[in-house]
Amino acid sequence: MRIRKERIQKDLEAINAFNATPEKGVTRYTFSKEHQGALSYVVEELRRIGVNCSFALGGNLLGRLAGSEPSGPGVMMGSHLDSVAEGGRFDGTAGVAAALEAARVIQEGELSHRLPIDLVVFAEEEGGRFGWGLLGSSAWSGRITPDQLAQIKDREGVGYLEAMESAGVKIGDASTLNPESLKAMLELHIEQGSILESRNASIGVVEAIVGIKQLIVTIEGSADHAGTTPMNLRRDAMQGAVRIISAVETVARQEGSGGVATVGQVFCEPGQANVIPGLVRFSVDVRHSDGSRLEAMAAGVAYMAENVSKGRNLGCRIEVKAEAEPVEMTPGLCDLIEKVAKGKGMQPVRMASGAGHDTGIIAKISDAGMIFVPSQAGRSHCAEEFTKVEDIALGAEILLETVLELAK
Ligand code: GLV
Ligand code: MN
Ligand code: MN
Repeated sequence: MRIRKERIQKDLEAINAFNATPEKGVTRYTFSKEHQGALSYVVEELRRIGVNCSFALGGNLLGRLAGSEPSGPGVMMGSHLDSVAEGGRFDGTAGVAAALEAARVIQEGELSHRLPIDLVVFAEEEGGRFGWGLLGSSAWSGRITPDQLAQIKDREGVGYLEAMESAGVKIGDASTLNPESLKAMLELHIEQGSILESRNASIGVVEAIVGIKQLIVTIEGSADHAGTTPMNLRRDAMQGAVRIISAVETVARQEGSGGVATVGQVFCEPGQANVIPGLVRFSVDVRHSDGSRLEAMAAGVAYMAENVSKGRNLGCRIEVKAEAEPVEMTPGLCDLIEKVAKGKGMQPVRMASGAGHDTGIIAKISDAGMIFVPSQAGRSHCAEEFTKVEDIALGAEILLETVLELAK
């Protein structure tokens, strides 16, 4: 059985041709025409090898390679095709291309497997369009209810279900993913950090995924004239917000190496040079591998936000937008991935993921494992993101062998 890197290269190029910002990285929002184009490419490639696709609850694409025991629990492999705004060509896409190539090798070589093997493309992994990451996997695994999903809207007020329908995505089976029907989930992903590169290693075995808490902080003041309102009479939402934003960095630095926090989105109203800001709303993304430290960091941010606002006579509202607890991958699967990699002469590195992944959500209901491949200079979520196709192909070989071992 041979993974062919030139086919992976072709898949990467074909998928990344569906891009709303070709001059500035990759933008492929869930259920956009670019996302649908990329999904259609995968559907067509699977059709060529005799694999039919359907959509599962949450808008996740599923292609099934039936085994000799079609009613048995499936072994799932895949990743996502949606991106952040102006992101990279490999985040998610590398994992889908690797799973697609593994599916080709299985079908073309008529490699026998007892259990079904499912190729999955999760929807809205990044939260780029709907502001809520890991959404497709969360809906499918029952972590959020269909009613909650129905409430979620994008920035333009288009609902998740409405966007899905406009994109022509029709759900075949609207039930939640039954843990009994799943033997294991495996995802190949780029590392998005620089540990593998610094160790000169081609393969990482993910042991744990960090916990993430995303808050939306809204600071309310009074919009007023920038020229006529004396400094001591202002309720300037921006002046409160910048102090809170600065405190976010302090909270993360106090955690030492274990915690990170980011303010990546800021909205200001009315957004005029000559008007004192009446409202500022910003995101806070807090991450830690320890659940209680994660909560403590989020509480620290909330405390600072409330204190600063009180001192400046500003209103303050904090909502939890999305969260995922820290999660460990299944030890037996980590061992299996490591064994397969060593059998191919590699020295895999055990590591934690600072990025969130759908496999972390699926890990709550099933065995789960992840294979990392190196990111050049650790760059990710930007146009400079790069991973050598040779490394993706090596990872795909390990993915293929691991999946076959689990499905045999
Ligand atoms: C996804 O890439 C995330 O870590 O937020
Ligand atoms: Mn990402
Ligand atoms: Mn990703």
